Amino acid sequence: MKLLRRIFFPLWKIRARFWVRKRIKEEQEPIRKVASALKDSLKGKLDVEEKLWVKNIEQLRQELKQNEQEIIVTDFGAGSPNENRTPQEMYTGVVNSTKVSKVVCASKSPFWSLFLHKLIREFQPEKGLEFGTSLGLSASYQASAMTINGKGKLITMEGSLSLVEKAVSNFTKIGLINIETVQGRFSDNLEKVLSQNNPIDYVFLDAHHDKNATIEYFETLLPFLSDNCVIVFDDIRWSKGMKKAFSLITQNPRIKFVFDLKEMGVCILAPENKERVIYKVK
Ligand SMILES: C[S@@+](CC[C@H](N)C(=O)[O-])C[C@H]1O[C@@H](n2cnc3c(N)ncnc32)[C@H](O)[C@@H]1O
Repeated sequence: MKLLRRIFFPLWKIRARFWVRKRIKEEQEPIRKVASALKDSLKGKLDVEEKLWVKNIEQLRQELKQNEQEIIVTDFGAGSPNENRTPQEMYTGVVNSTKVSKVVCASKSPFWSLFLHKLIREFQPEKGLEFGTSLGLSASYQASAMTINGKGKLITMEGSLSLVEKAVSNFTKIGLINIETVQGRFSDNLEKVLSQNNPIDYVFLDAHHDKNATIEYFETLLPFLSDNCVIVFDDIRWSKGMKKAFSLITQNPRIKFVFDLKEMGVCILAPENKERVIYKVK
């Protein structure tokens, strides 16, 4: 899988550059902003403040990669694409003994993390919600963008207590104070988190990887999303179920902009009378 990614990712980047060139001057603001976030990520373009945060977060990633400490993780997600965990198994959680250096491999890469950072710089959300904290790397990219924006709070949710403890200490280490970390199953915490943080302007789902669960979370989110909310779905081709979930979700009438970026899907809400546009950068 990693080898395939190494081969195909450079080709995807070429296609993405073409798409950016066509869309960067679009009249419609959401399209322009996504194109701009992608352009800057492809170029690795960072201003002085961004450079400092990215340097510190990537230094943290390197430290985590070298950390051979054993850690007991409880996973309430779907595991791997071929595992076919039952809803009961996912509810109970699967307990695994692993190493920090292995857990960090499941974090978003520097490229995609930077893309999330740039999306937040462009869209300037007040309230962001992340599904799946793990060690806190993607959360750090997103919350640091809010820090630079001078506004915004990120709520990040994680089931495994051991990971929450590590993530919180990582946030402190790099100096982020605009993150609230919520421990527990999403199904147990989501409604409360949403009612306390209504409305939500930005969501990043990078966790459960199960078709029914993903659709359920989206439906629970809907009444709490602001009119122009940005929702990022990770791993939209991770399994047949995730592909189906993304395809069904994008048919919701509140979603007016869909950007299928192969690995991630970005959906943006807009008023119902607007026509939907769908871009595929595959
Ligand atoms: C891919 S990792 C997140 C990586 C992180 N976003 C990053 O890029 O640094 C997914 C995380 O979601 C958590 N998770 C999966 N399903 C969950 C559920 N139903 N409730 C709570 N946490 C869950 C897992 O424990 C795991 O740490």
